[in-house]
Amino acid sequence: MVNVAILGYGVVGSGVAEVIKKNSESIRQRAGTDIKVKWILDIRDFPDSPDKDVLTKNADDVFNDSEVSIVVETIGGAKIAHEFTKRALMAGKSVVTSNKELVATHGPELLQLAKEKGVSYLFEASVGGGIPIIRPLNQCLAANEINGITGILNGTTNYILTQMKKEGKSFETALKEAQQNGYAEQNPTADVEGHDTCRKIAILSSIAYNEFVDSENIYSEGITKITVDDMKYAEAIGGVIKLIAVSKKINDKIFARVSPAIVTSEHPLANVEDVFNAIVVNGDAVGDAMFYGRGAGKLPTASAVVADVIDIAKHPDSVTTGVWVRTEENNVLPVEESSTRFLVRVTAKNIADTKKNVLSIFGETEFVELHSKSKDNEFAFISGETTERDFNAKLDKLESIPDITVLNRIRIEG
Ligand code: HSE
Repeated sequence: MVNVAILGYGVVGSGVAEVIKKNSESIRQRAGTDIKVKWILDIRDFPDSPDKDVLTKNADDVFNDSEVSIVVETIGGAKIAHEFTKRALMAGKSVVTSNKELVATHGPELLQLAKEKGVSYLFEASVGGGIPIIRPLNQCLAANEINGITGILNGTTNYILTQMKKEGKSFETALKEAQQNGYAEQNPTADVEGHDTCRKIAILSSIAYNEFVDSENIYSEGITKITVDDMKYAEAIGGVIKLIAVSKKINDKIFARVSPAIVTSEHPLANVEDVFNAIVVNGDAVGDAMFYGRGAGKLPTASAVVADVIDIAKHPDSVTTGVWVRTEENNVLPVEESSTRFLVRVTAKNIADTKKNVLSIFGETEFVELHSKSKDNEFAFISGETTERDFNAKLDKLESIPDITVLNRIRIEG
């Protein structure tokens, strides 16, 4: 019998308790032992909960219980969750988490501590919700040098963008629905401003390139400035706007970026819709491998958490697969040095003159016509591939001309 304690009885924590109970028989067969939730720690009252017999508000019940060998941390954030994770590892208990903020911020120290204590710190659910991606990177693709990763890593923003595009819903309505469905973070700013995606690509990159990639060093832009008009222009060039995370190994540096980007219909991420996430990993031996599934929500995320619990139950001597080393210098290339093409939307008093200005400043460009009638005083163009530093300088020059306003600029991926 393996006894588990769950810290935090929110969407994911209650899902973990539900899955362990509901699938107890098949879990027993796979783990080779019974897995039981002995404690659930939460400061709130849940008088009608099916788990009320194991709920406690006293952390000592968990940490002083020598029968508890696995702690599931589903509190979120990097404060109390950090303290409790350290306390559990110090007490010789393995920890499983869905908390990407904690892994992205304190992963190196927590993995090191787990190693020293001979226990495991596993976080399959921290990226891609129910999609297996951490274990495949650590194990199934371990023979490869990873060249790059491209992904849609946030269910909430993918849901919002899909609903805006396909159902014509407003940003606010779609966000509210994502919250009601249990996809969004407690504070959805982390979703819509790209921080959640940034932490996830940092975690994947740290595994892929065997060195810690700090999310603080990754350029990150959210979806709050994306409008339905932007989506129409994307459609006019045969594309769709997604919140895309990319990371690549370039010599001894890592390039990583999170931003909205237009992907064309042939791109493998173009048809990934609603709460679904997808991750394309390019390895030198395997080529492209794609992972797809529900990226957020109670049971998909619980599915990944419980898989980690089963793995530890099967391998009680530790399944922590390595530690991440913090490099002294920033190992992430500045975004200004990367090369990209942009779709730029412009409004101006005199369209003909402004197009001439665009051609003289940007050189190689392609003007975009909307399938439906464009607004009289605006147009869009696609810049040639250039470094972001060069593009920004050119855009500043264009914007310095009186009566010209840049409405938006969106990267084109691939
Ligand atoms: N808020 C996150 C998302 C939850 O929407 O993807 C899963 O990490």
